[in-house]
Amino acid sequence: MVSFERDDAKRAMPTRPSFTTFVYDSPLHGKRSGEIARALLPSCLDVREQDKEGQLWCRENYPSGYTSYGTIRTLNRSFSPFKAFIELEKKIWPHVQRFTRRLDMDLREATLAMTDCWVNIMSRGAVHPLHLHPGAVISGTFYVSTPSGCSSIRFEDPRPEKAKAVLPPRRSDCRPENRDQVDYRAEAGKVILFESWLRHEVPANPTDGDRVSVSFNYTWV
Ligand code: NI
Repeated sequence: MVSFERDDAKRAMPTRPSFTTFVYDSPLHGKRSGEIARALLPSCLDVREQDKEGQLWCRENYPSGYTSYGTIRTLNRSFSPFKAFIELEKKIWPHVQRFTRRLDMDLREATLAMTDCWVNIMSRGAVHPLHLHPGAVISGTFYVSTPSGCSSIRFEDPRPEKAKAVLPPRRSDCRPENRDQVDYRAEAGKVILFESWLRHEVPANPTDGDRVSVSFNYTWV
């Protein structure tokens, strides 16, 4: 019987990571993160309530879900009647700056700005299929309400499909960095950031509670 013991545990493996994909995952504001999330929930519900056009669109196109993406995508702007999202943007910005430092992005010539900000409410069974955010640099989500057992956000290995088709399967104890899908738990008060080209999805919400989040794009301006 072949031993599958990790040989890099016995001696140093002569490899180094290259073209690494980072995902940023942090509480928004330390111990106050949960409180900030709870305080934002009424504003998210208010957006849905007032967005009649968006509700109609979602009834046709987003079963069991609501998103303001197609109708109210400027929640963070100074003219937005939903002031809570302007405050949220201020708290997200330091995280984005920190993430860009991790990515070694040179932002001396231009900066990043939150150009889109929208609300998502997923009831039982709502699915957010695999997609990416074209044109943006950094995208992310702040979790507002996450019923126990609700779906995670799932990122997909960005390597080309053609290359993946000829690969052997990964072992069941595969390291996180070698997996072809990675889940990050949705947790109220948490902010998740990723590079906008990284494909992601949210599997069907299996709970009776609404999974509420605010998503956003940062563009190089
Ligand atoms: Ni997305």
